[in-house]
Amino acid sequence: MTSSPTVPTFTLTRPQAAPLDPPPLYAQLRGEQPVTRVSLWEGRLTPWLVTRWEDARAVLGSPAFSTDQTHPGAPNFKEGTHQPGPRGFFQNYDDPIHAAMRRTLTREFMVKRVDALRPAIARLTDELLTDLTVLSGPADFVEHFALPLPSLVICELLGVPYEEHPFFQEQSKTLVDLNATGEESARAFANLGEYLLRLVQTKRATPGDDVVTRLAAQVDEGVITDQDAADLSAFLLFAGHETTANMIALSTITLLNHPDRIPHILGGPDQVASAVEELLRYLSIVHGGLRRTAIDDVTIGGVTIHAGEGVIIPVHVANRDPEFFTNPDDLDLERANVRRHLAFGYGIHQCLGQPLARAELQIVLPEVFRRLPSLKIAVPMEEIAFKQATAVYGVRELPVTW
Ligand code: HEM
Repeated sequence: MTSSPTVPTFTLTRPQAAPLDPPPLYAQLRGEQPVTRVSLWEGRLTPWLVTRWEDARAVLGSPAFSTDQTHPGAPNFKEGTHQPGPRGFFQNYDDPIHAAMRRTLTREFMVKRVDALRPAIARLTDELLTDLTVLSGPADFVEHFALPLPSLVICELLGVPYEEHPFFQEQSKTLVDLNATGEESARAFANLGEYLLRLVQTKRATPGDDVVTRLAAQVDEGVITDQDAADLSAFLLFAGHETTANMIALSTITLLNHPDRIPHILGGPDQVASAVEELLRYLSIVHGGLRRTAIDDVTIGGVTIHAGEGVIIPVHVANRDPEFFTNPDDLDLERANVRRHLAFGYGIHQCLGQPLARAELQIVLPEVFRRLPSLKIAVPMEEIAFKQATAVYGVRELPVTW
């Protein structure tokens, strides 16, 4: 397929003047052509872009769409990346493999388990903030706080022994480092894979109260293989590290830009909980869109999408749909229907780690503003390096003073 002038190129670039808002073109499309073609790979692929909240939810909730990236029409960002990954990365698999793999982890994210992690999250938050305040400033909030916090939480979750945290964190850091070379990233990926495989075997011999121990037990029961257990652990790191880090950094920027809302964040658990939902909606960091391929013909928003055609669902655009959210571009920390945002997706692939992500944000954000009441961004907004070409939106660094 070739690109025509009426088919806009799919872009991740947000406007310089309003870096926390989606590209204006998408707001326009949502009003005028809510289900429309966009161009990828210089027009060689033209998947559909679905921008209204209601239509986005319809796609994500429908069994007529697949997340399998090996379909030739799958709207992967890079051409030639239609290979199957390990099944432990189950987001890219349909049921029944997806369901079988997801089931091995569902208990880990039940409220009771996540609540048990809250004291550890609070302790790690405290330690990192203490270390940060020892510095003379300005310091990079991403390097010293937003990135290490979720990576240390994943260490707790998986049961990475304390003395091995530095190795684990170093590899994770390289994996999410946009300046790392392809070779460095590949080495970190391989190192982490080998490490997690060894950890599965170690936990079998010396069990703990952690995810890897329970995955090793499922290997012994014949439910999964050692390799699956290691891949599932790696997938949790990938899915939960950068996403949460970016939410911490961008939420901090957003609140500093709306200083009158900071008292709300400090107002107790219910207020924090609703504020976190609004920040999730407002920022909708998975701005590369959730991506699907139709496996049956299906009509969405009055448009027929044929089997084999790709669909991109930019949740940052759907979550700003004025037909569903009143004054969607306002940050309203008491928005009544906020919990129906799509920042964690919807349907069978809805974020498994969302209770953990919520717990982290609910603990971290009030603590940051309690401990650092004079926190300020040390550079003008236009000098902040936003990640413009990554599927998950964030900042490369955030110089702050306190
Ligand atoms: C604020 C932070 C986070 C955001 C915004 C986020 C967002 C998302 C979204 C949008 C999806 C759905 C993708 C799709 O439908 O194609 C997803 C899936 C997933 N997320 Fe998260 N996530 C976050 C944190 C986490 C954490 C902390 C973990 C675990 C440690 C996690 C684990 C997963 C997993 C395993 C899936 C795949 C679910 C499936 O395919 O069944 N996420 N996430």
